Amino acid sequence: MAESMQGLHRTCRCAEVAAEPAGSQVTLMGWVARARNKGGIVFVDLRDRSGIVQLVFEDGSIDHEGFEKAGRLRSEFVIAVVGTVEKRLGAVNPGLVTGEIEIRVGQLRILSESQVPPFPVEENSRTKDEIRLKYRYLDLRRPDLQRNLMMKSRVAMLTRQFFAGEGFLEIETPMLGKSTPEGARDYLVPSRIHPGSFYGLPQSPQLYKQLLMCSGYDRYIQITRCFRDEDLRADRQPEFTQIDMELSFVDVDDVIDVNERFLAYLFKEVLDVEVPLPIQRITWQEAMDRFGSDKPDMRFGMELCDVSDLVRDCGFAVFTGALEKDGSVRGINAQGQGGMPRKKIDKLVEFARGYGAKGLAYIAIGADGARKSSFGKFMKEEEMDALVSALDGKPGDLLLFAADKTKLVCDVLGALRLELAKQMGLLDKNEYRFVWVTEFPLLEWSEEENRYTAMHHPFTMLMEEDLPLLDTDPGKVRAKAYDIVLNGNEIGGGSVRIHQNEIQEKMFEMLGFTKESAYEQFGFLLDAFKYGVPPHAGLAYGLDRLVMLMAKTDSIRDVIAFPKVKDASCLMTQSPGKVSPEQLEELGLALAAENAEE
Ligand code: AMO
Ligand code: AMP
Repeated sequence: MAESMQGLHRTCRCAEVAAEPAGSQVTLMGWVARARNKGGIVFVDLRDRSGIVQLVFEDGSIDHEGFEKAGRLRSEFVIAVVGTVEKRLGAVNPGLVTGEIEIRVGQLRILSESQVPPFPVEENSRTKDEIRLKYRYLDLRRPDLQRNLMMKSRVAMLTRQFFAGEGFLEIETPMLGKSTPEGARDYLVPSRIHPGSFYGLPQSPQLYKQLLMCSGYDRYIQITRCFRDEDLRADRQPEFTQIDMELSFVDVDDVIDVNERFLAYLFKEVLDVEVPLPIQRITWQEAMDRFGSDKPDMRFGMELCDVSDLVRDCGFAVFTGALEKDGSVRGINAQGQGGMPRKKIDKLVEFARGYGAKGLAYIAIGADGARKSSFGKFMKEEEMDALVSALDGKPGDLLLFAADKTKLVCDVLGALRLELAKQMGLLDKNEYRFVWVTEFPLLEWSEEENRYTAMHHPFTMLMEEDLPLLDTDPGKVRAKAYDIVLNGNEIGGGSVRIHQNEIQEKMFEMLGFTKESAYEQFGFLLDAFKYGVPPHAGLAYGLDRLVMLMAKTDSIRDVIAFPKVKDASCLMTQSPGKVSPEQLEELGLALAAENAEE
């Protein structure tokens, strides 16, 4: 039978014992990480969220009954011990904060026993994800996950502290609300009282925070959950947390200024990393041209080079064909990869095809300067020379070229650049390179919907000087929108908002809303703008993504206590689940026949 804690008070956490002088009495509680019975002596590693400390049970130091009990300890038993801090007699463990000491136990209570866990609770588990997630409560005991979640808690605390110091107010906005168009599908919640009507869970608090500016709150911040029904990837979850903010009477520079100081503060406090300010800014166009991506990884070079003008009159039909169709030819230089075996180059071509390329042309320069190329036979020697020198090709380099529509060429080479950097070991998780990407296009043409969609969201202001283009060349209009990018990840984004009703209405019109449908969805915002609205702007970070990078992990799941898997289900609780016919009836819902039969 499990014993009670009565009469015992924990004096500190396991790893905190390191600060106690030898000879002091401590009472510790935690989980048995490991128990080793060496005959007359039992060693136990006791674990809690602070770390591990070694316990020693020796017949004589503890009464015989207690010693027998110690012999029964197994992994994950929860125990309480009273003992004395001593210098280690055996080998010192420099890998542990408590590596030089141990606790000689005089009293033991078993507070809870444990079945044999389905996997060992240890650092860097190699257990399959499905098992880990099914037993998430055990998985979460692992020191690496505990450190991640403690770091996340600290990031949230420092965030509140920083922004409070900058005059931001924390204000809650509804979960049961009206859907905001951020580009994903909404999660809907049926209303019982209004059968047939639904709330939308927020994709972000966008509209509410703008209304708070209309209401004079001046600077708002909220650490809040957002919900997006979209296809999941390693850096996406259906519900995730934003650090969301909005500021009045500001422009782009003001938002950027307070946020760079925030990032510098956060990285210094949490990681002891200096973020040099100001953070570099590049425009979206420059990011696409140089890196083939709107979230460039700045830890390495390998920039894209436009060679269209050099090959305009060459004999290689793949290149000239793309140029005739208004496309472009661009290349990258994978330095030192000239000796790459043909098979590996073919894999790169396959990789490029995966991004829609029709092929990938290459020049491999041997250590002796001799060139091997997939298209050399179509080119004059001096044309090849020009290509090599445009990409600064040196002996031992591999030059890769894609020819197609410019957008596709950028996508392909942008992805290839990252893939090569991975293969070449250029991505150091200890290096943090920030960049602001600014002046995003306001609109994006959607082939699917045959209309423009907002690249950021419909409330984003355009650059004043581009206003005339709105009627003549909408695709060219630049927005006052910015993303903050860290090591190739979009960790946050925002914009200056439209605060003039005429422009907002015009924007809705551009996006294919009729006046009626715009009012039906956003009437409250348009109305609010009629009663005095300050110019305002804001930004939101993906807190999970930010912490994922700070914790140097590759999956957003490693920084979320109870995450969902790829099909948006939870393997531990089995949600989403079926509900009873009574629940459905109460909500005025009926399932379509094929779902009901299942
Ligand atoms: P945006 O849609 O860019 O902007 O979102 C802001 C940040 O949230 C993170 N993020 C996600 N993180 C995890 N899982 C997801 N599914 C997910 N989707 C987005 C990203 C992103 O940069 N209302 C605007 C902000 C504003 O304009 O102020 C917004 O939501 O890190
Ligand atoms: P082909 O004439 O189709 O055999 O192509 C000759 C070389 O050009 C091969 O190495 C192809 O992979 C490459 N290639 C084909 N299409 C493209 C393209 N759109 N961009 C770059 N290289 C290409």
